[in-house]
Amino acid sequence: MVKVRVPATTANMGPGFDVLGMALNIYNYVEMWEISDGLEIIVDGEGKDSIDRGKNNIAYLIARRVFDRVGHEPSGLGIRLVNEIPTARGLGSSAAALVGAALAANVVSGGQLTEEEILGMVSEMEGHPDNAVPALVGGVTICIEDDGGLVYRKMAPPSELQAVIAIPRYELSTEKARSVLPKRVSFGDAIFNMGRVGLLVHALERGDLDLLGLAMKDRLHQPHRMPLIPGMGDVFSAALEAGAVGAALSGAGPTLIAFTAGDGDMPNIKAAMEEKFKDHEISCIIKDVRPDLQGAVVLDENGGK
Ligand code: HSE
Repeated sequence: MVKVRVPATTANMGPGFDVLGMALNIYNYVEMWEISDGLEIIVDGEGKDSIDRGKNNIAYLIARRVFDRVGHEPSGLGIRLVNEIPTARGLGSSAAALVGAALAANVVSGGQLTEEEILGMVSEMEGHPDNAVPALVGGVTICIEDDGGLVYRKMAPPSELQAVIAIPRYELSTEKARSVLPKRVSFGDAIFNMGRVGLLVHALERGDLDLLGLAMKDRLHQPHRMPLIPGMGDVFSAALEAGAVGAALSGAGPTLIAFTAGDGDMPNIKAAMEEKFKDHEISCIIKDVRPDLQGAVVLDENGGK
């Protein structure tokens, strides 16, 4: 049996749409083993009542792709998903499942694929690489696609960086949250975001967290997604007033993330975000999180049996 642990991720970080992402210390676990015949999928934790347990399960689909690519033909396959990451909330649950299953399938089939090949396969299935990359390598990542390939770099975020996440108790599919985005953006909005991505990377690299409030503003996706998350603007303002250094929509939402320098303001930020969402009749789960620096880890590797 192979067991892999994969972190949640918060993509975009405001202006870095489809480019920036950060791993968080909430985890999904993927176990995989060969069986004599057929397919057995067990799901525990988040999504246990909704995740497909048949041949359309995304963990199985990517495992199949890995096996096809390396020419491995297991007689049958067992997969167990133990999920802490809530599904369809903008915390990278599907990227975690795909990264975990691809890594596990790679170990089961003899470890023939490189990190780059695994990331290429996952981001092809995801349609964008900004969750997959930090899920695999941890930390804060910058990734671009060029000429059909991925180029990415990892940064270690400042040690005092922490965050509060407010997870509304409703799902929002990435497909829906992408369908509201415009086909074209203005030159001015592109410049607005480019400058902020540069500043944000600088701020995270240098630990200049006071810049985050300014550097995390976005004009490319968040304004268009606002109607899908009632209270989003008010929750951002409440978090910043309570001491957060920056706030953003986590991935495609509906989770909102507010960053802090240390944990001094954490209780006030948590209360402010929860209360403001409640004013908009949105019930949410509030958690404090830290960056994960390791990314996906193979915890147990027992010959794939
Ligand atoms: N960059 C993607 C989006 C992340 O915002 O649609 C989805 O999790």
